[in-house]
Amino acid sequence: MSTPIIFDTDPGIDDAQAIAIALAHPDIELLGLTTTFGNVTIETATHNALLLAELAGQSIPVAQGASAPLVKPKNPPPGHIHGDNGLGNMPLPPVTTQAVSQSAAAFIVEQVNARPGEIVLVAVGPLGNLAAALQLDPSLVAKVKRVVIMGGSIREGGNVTPVAEANIFNDPHAAARVLQADWPLTLVGLDATHRCVLDPTSMEKIAAAQGELGKILGESYTFYRDFYQQAQGIDGCCPHDSCALVWLLKPELFQVERGYLSVVTEGLAEGQTLMAPASRQFVDDRWTRSVAADVCLNADGPAVIQWMVETLTAE
Ligand code: BDR
Ligand code: CA
Repeated sequence: MSTPIIFDTDPGIDDAQAIAIALAHPDIELLGLTTTFGNVTIETATHNALLLAELAGQSIPVAQGASAPLVKPKNPPPGHIHGDNGLGNMPLPPVTTQAVSQSAAAFIVEQVNARPGEIVLVAVGPLGNLAAALQLDPSLVAKVKRVVIMGGSIREGGNVTPVAEANIFNDPHAAARVLQADWPLTLVGLDATHRCVLDPTSMEKIAAAQGELGKILGESYTFYRDFYQQAQGIDGCCPHDSCALVWLLKPELFQVERGYLSVVTEGLAEGQTLMAPASRQFVDDRWTRSVAADVCLNADGPAVIQWMVETLTAE
C-alpha cells in the first residue's frame, strides 16, 4: 500500500535526488511539493520544484512557502554547496507550469484535514512551513500520520557550525516549534546521513536511468561532489534528504533511539539539537517537556545507497 506524503523542500542538489525518489517510488503517493528558502531563495526553490516534476513528466502541485526565518535574519544561500541556482549552476530549461495559489502552510492544512490519520509530512529544509501550518491549525498534531524530518545532529556535530545542522540553523525558532509539537516525529539527522555516501558509480547508474531528470541529477552531483571532496575529503556526497524517504520505506536500515528533542535558539550553540534519551532521568524536566520522538543515531550506509540506486534504476 502506498503512503501519501507531502514533501517540504528547498531544492537543492540532494533535495532533487530525494524528489526523484518521491516521484518514482511505487509505495509513495506524492500529494505535493511545498517549498521553502534554505539552499536557495524561495523563488528559486519553487522554480526548481516545478522543473523537477516537469522533467519527470508528472503533474504534482507545488505550493510556495517561507521566504525567511521566523525570527533571525536570513543567512545568504550557500551558493558554494548547491550553486546559485540550487542545481550546481548548470543551465536549466524554462518551466511551463506554475505553483498553486495556496501557501505551503494552507496546502498542508487542507490536505491533512482531507485525509486525517493518513498523510506523512516529510520535511528536508528549514521548518517554517510546518511551523506555519501548526499555527494555522493546531489540530494537525493529531491528524498527521507522522512527521519525518531531515535535520539536526545529536552526537555527530554540526555541518554549518560546530554543533548545528543547516536546516535547523537556518530557522531554529521554527525548528523548536516543530520538534516539540505533540505529533509523532522521526528525526533523520547527520548521525545517520553522514554514514551514507553516494559514490560516483552509483550516481552514474541513476543518471543513466532517469532520462531528462537524470541529466540534472548527474550534472548537479558533480558540483556537490567537488564541495564534499574539499570540505570532507570524501569521494561522493551525502544524500541527506533522500535518507528521510529511505527511513520511511526501509526503517530497518536505521538505528533509532527514543528521546525528547530541544533546539537551542540563541547564542553560540544556536541551531543545536539536543536529545534527552527517554531511558534516562535528568535533574529536572527542562529537557523532557515535549513528547518523545524517534531519533536516528546511525544507518547502514551501503544498504541505504543500494536502496536508492535500486529505486532510481527500476524499470
Ligand atoms: C541539509 O541542508 C541542506 O543543505 C541539504 O539540502 C539538507 O537538507 C543537510 O544539512
Ligand atoms: Ca534540503
